[in-house]
Amino acid sequence: MLGGKKIIVGVTGSIAAYKAAILVRTLVRQGAEVRVVMTPLAKEFISPLTLATLSRHPILVDFFDPEDGRWNSHVALGEWADALLIAPATANTLAKMATGVADNLLLTTYLSARCPVFVAPAMDLDMYGHPTTRYNLDSLKSYGVRVVEPGEGELASGLSGKGRMAEPEEIAAALSAFFARRRSLAGYKVLVTAGPTIEPIDPVRYISNHSSGKMGYALAAELRDRGAEVILVTGRTALCPPDGVTTVEVTTADEMFRTASAAFERCEAAVMCAAVADYTPVEVSDRKIKKDGGAWTLELRPTQDIAAALGAVKGDRLLVGFALETDRERENALSKLQRKNMDFIVLNSLGDEGAGFGVDTNKITILRRNGTERAFGLKSKAEVARDIVDEIEACRAERA
Ligand code: CTP
Repeated sequence: MLGGKKIIVGVTGSIAAYKAAILVRTLVRQGAEVRVVMTPLAKEFISPLTLATLSRHPILVDFFDPEDGRWNSHVALGEWADALLIAPATANTLAKMATGVADNLLLTTYLSARCPVFVAPAMDLDMYGHPTTRYNLDSLKSYGVRVVEPGEGELASGLSGKGRMAEPEEIAAALSAFFARRRSLAGYKVLVTAGPTIEPIDPVRYISNHSSGKMGYALAAELRDRGAEVILVTGRTALCPPDGVTTVEVTTADEMFRTASAAFERCEAAVMCAAVADYTPVEVSDRKIKKDGGAWTLELRPTQDIAAALGAVKGDRLLVGFALETDRERENALSKLQRKNMDFIVLNSLGDEGAGFGVDTNKITILRRNGTERAFGLKSKAEVARDIVDEIEACRAERA
């Protein structure tokens, strides 16, 4: 149920806009407070009067009221809402959202919203299947936008296929499920490690790896969204620290080890997503090392295995690790699971297209200590984070 939830319903110019009336009525009946923002074209498809009556508030379309110049603040709207739901979302609006175009009140509201965003696409099947639309939806998913997938059936064009907006009841159910999950980890303290470590050789050079940090940041955001208190210990990445998460930036494996070990003392769970260097130079030169024409041998020493160290002291706390493998994948992952005393390990294979470093998608298999195994399809890292946090919740519930 949606009692007391503040929801902005964004309506765009699609034939499915007629369903927005039923959607608004359903949300209001479930106890939500609803404000409707329409794009100028949406007004051609459904009367603002209908939506104003059902939502019990005036409809917002323009940046300001042409009669009295009153300003409709998209920033205030974005701050007010617990969720922004764009239904129906046309291919045009999705494209603008994906690229940051801000030429109407709904789009500026989207760009300034800090709350979770849902879209319910509605379009013809060819538009929906077009690579551009697929690309835009994938980009939006990677930014954390939740997509209420369209259904299959007869479309306004007379064709039949996927593209028909989900039914209002389904959309309301997706929102309810989201809010129910929202507090499911309230007060749970979780450490997440993310990104690469950097091991200096001299003031110019270093040893590192290709980790972008995207998977760890998506996990931190998902845990936060469910109410957890998250400490993110991260190597250097190009990403913005997620809002509402305590972020500590570190450089080397040794620093990450010290910071993560201290943070784990205050946590009930740890998710080890960082790509930690296994070796670091024995000596770091304080001057740039000059070439002398011959071969160069660099002496390395092993670093601490952070996951294994936490595994050794974890007691009944939950420990989750990752294994990125190129060969003998299951075997290697299962051996790490045992060796590091993890509760489950997330295996991703560099051999799978779309999985691994830098990309916005991932394909994982979760291997539990109790022998169970769950394989998932290729998904955005935000969606993969949801699957992993679902597993954390399942483990936690089993212990309770
Ligand atoms: N890990 C860690 N500290 C390290 C090395 C790894 O915390 N020094 C964690 C990673 O964050 C990951 C898991 O251990 O959750 C497995 O990392 P991976 O690099 O795949 O395993 P390694 O033990 O380093 O084994 P190898 O490099 O031989 O595959």
